[in-house]
Amino acid sequence: MPEYEFPYRNPALPIEQRVDDLLKRMTLEEKVDQLMQITIGADTNPNNLGSGHSFRPTIGSVLSYCGSTRNRNAFQRLAVEETRLGIPIIWGFDVIHGWRTAFPIPLAQACSWNPDIVEAGCRVAARESYAEGVDWTFSPMLDVPHDPRWGRVMEGYGEDPLAAGIFGAAAVRGYQGEDPSQPGTVAACLKHFVGYAASEAGHDYAYTDISSRTLHETYLPPFQAAVEAGAMTLMSSFNDITGTPAVANHYTLTEVLRDRWHFRGFVVSDWDGVVQLAHQGYTTNPAEMCRAALSAGNDMEMNSSAYRNIPTLIESGRLKIEVVDEAVRRVLRIKFAKGLFEHPYHEEVDPGTVSLQPEALELSRAAARASMVLLKNEKNTLPLNPDTLRSIALIGPVATDREASAGAWPAIIDPKTIPTLQEVLPSFFPKSEIHYAPGCDYTSDSTEHFAEAIAAAEKSDLVIVAIGEGAGRTGENRSYTNIALPGKQLELLRKIAAVGRPVVLLVSSGRPILYPELEPLANAILHIWECGHGAAAGCCDILTGAYNPSGRLAITFPRSVGQIPIYYNHHPRARDEKAEWGGRYFDLDDSPMYPFGYGLSYTSYEYSDLEISVEDLTAQVTLRNTGKRAGRETVFWYLSDPEAKLTQPLRRLIAFEQVDLAPGEERRLTLQLDRMHDLAYIDPTGKKVFEPGRFILSVGGEKAEFVVAE
Ligand code: NOJ
Repeated sequence: MPEYEFPYRNPALPIEQRVDDLLKRMTLEEKVDQLMQITIGADTNPNNLGSGHSFRPTIGSVLSYCGSTRNRNAFQRLAVEETRLGIPIIWGFDVIHGWRTAFPIPLAQACSWNPDIVEAGCRVAARESYAEGVDWTFSPMLDVPHDPRWGRVMEGYGEDPLAAGIFGAAAVRGYQGEDPSQPGTVAACLKHFVGYAASEAGHDYAYTDISSRTLHETYLPPFQAAVEAGAMTLMSSFNDITGTPAVANHYTLTEVLRDRWHFRGFVVSDWDGVVQLAHQGYTTNPAEMCRAALSAGNDMEMNSSAYRNIPTLIESGRLKIEVVDEAVRRVLRIKFAKGLFEHPYHEEVDPGTVSLQPEALELSRAAARASMVLLKNEKNTLPLNPDTLRSIALIGPVATDREASAGAWPAIIDPKTIPTLQEVLPSFFPKSEIHYAPGCDYTSDSTEHFAEAIAAAEKSDLVIVAIGEGAGRTGENRSYTNIALPGKQLELLRKIAAVGRPVVLLVSSGRPILYPELEPLANAILHIWECGHGAAAGCCDILTGAYNPSGRLAITFPRSVGQIPIYYNHHPRARDEKAEWGGRYFDLDDSPMYPFGYGLSYTSYEYSDLEISVEDLTAQVTLRNTGKRAGRETVFWYLSDPEAKLTQPLRRLIAFEQVDLAPGEERRLTLQLDRMHDLAYIDPTGKKVFEPGRFILSVGGEKAEFVVAE
């Protein structure tokens, strides 16, 4: 049969048949190549140390941005037209919160509580990055953090496992579209599998001590939800899971992921994840690293080359060819499903015609204003009235900082294309004189520009102080023991507050920061995160009241680093935590500074008449907009299970929804409960267990107790 007639080339055949046909034609060396991912040239992630491999067109995957689709296609042509079997390469890249159009960092997006925003943003990122040669993004990150010292909190969807799963599934839909074989879509990669966020003391790459219970209850559920949404790939994590590193963990990679969840795609290691088994004290022998990772279910190796030991392992009988074949089969399956054999080349279009389009920029702005969280609004300081404010002082380093808006993982996002607050504010306040003064930068000890800032405040009706962490303080390998704002920013705020004008504080960060000292110094506080192209306009939409803030925290903000780990769904203590002998701190209020779910609005809502019908397990509550503005309320439904053989958290989120209400409008909301989905708990083996008895449902301060029998 001539080569071009080989069955694997026939798109009309089922994928499994094509995979089997191709696999049987491959040499061992070609199989090994399919299991390797290399970087060509420099990688844009500064934490990916080392770069540059010699290019083998038989390689399975490349992790690089090649500068243009033309370059990428040229490499791809070598693979498709000049290798024996013509297997296309899958091109991966970290597209985390946008390609050229920057969206809010994922943690901020989670505060919108709107999965449609996440999905739409990922769809734009897919279209833009595909146009420049990307097939596969290393996103979404579904790690569930309880420690804001860990810099990667910015990249996930907050501390609740249910929410992380819902947003993760939305991201998968956005990236992969309805048909991932079509141009304009990219394969998603769920990372980091699993438990990476359980890092000790907020260190990155750290050992994680995770009980079976916590693994199944907290860390696995978001991945399961996104696997069910059709994610094509996963990335194994850097961490050692209680003695068995994630990259070599047969239980998580095979028994859970394949045997229970029936995942059919492939798993790639993290950067050097296979050879880091040496640092983790597992083995220093590269062949053993290869055997351990591959036979655990880690199919592809990112960057390092331990998998080059496969032939020796096979020869010596230490690895079965079936294990290698299965891994190759998974990689090929995704390449077929991704449509790479039918569309190996991406159309060479001018990126300017695809990226940074008006609809994408508008979406970024909508995402930005929905993600920002109003933390304080004393005496309705906000919204501001552009008709009556004669002058505004705009102070602080965030006001002119494009990098802070670009976000913690900008990849190829060009900060120069991002408007700043200083540029945007005048168009929202055309009648106000605006006096800008930076006051200080993020980190230095200099106070030499304080005087100009104070002078600007003195001659203004109101002051907007825009301060924050500054770019690059969160993300991979960005752990801090002190999560207060750096440098002289607090001191600057003190001086400005002393001037006596109303102060609106805008804080940009990629993680929860410490507010106790900042809070008393401002009349209103808007946490603006790192929100991409739409950051400045989205913020002004809120300042002027064109948008009524609806963001609610998806992660707890502590009062002090000493409270960490702190998260809402913790377990009860042996004694009443409010009592004198309740095990509380003696030097600090036990409560968080701003709890999970916290966020103010320009209107007010009232919940009443929560009722539960035990017969059909439905709950109803009335929600009313009691203020004077239309608003979007996020309704959080929590369940408590106060008596269980396996003790349960004080409460856990079982559903959330968003409701738009006009002033005075009232709606009766219904939640259909399901025994196994909502009332059952997850046991240490991952099984759902329904234990009859007493439950408490709470929503918006309303609580109702009910009993469900056998
Ligand atoms: C290391 C990071 O942990 C991972 O999230 C990322 O996708 C890879 N490097 C590739 O850049």
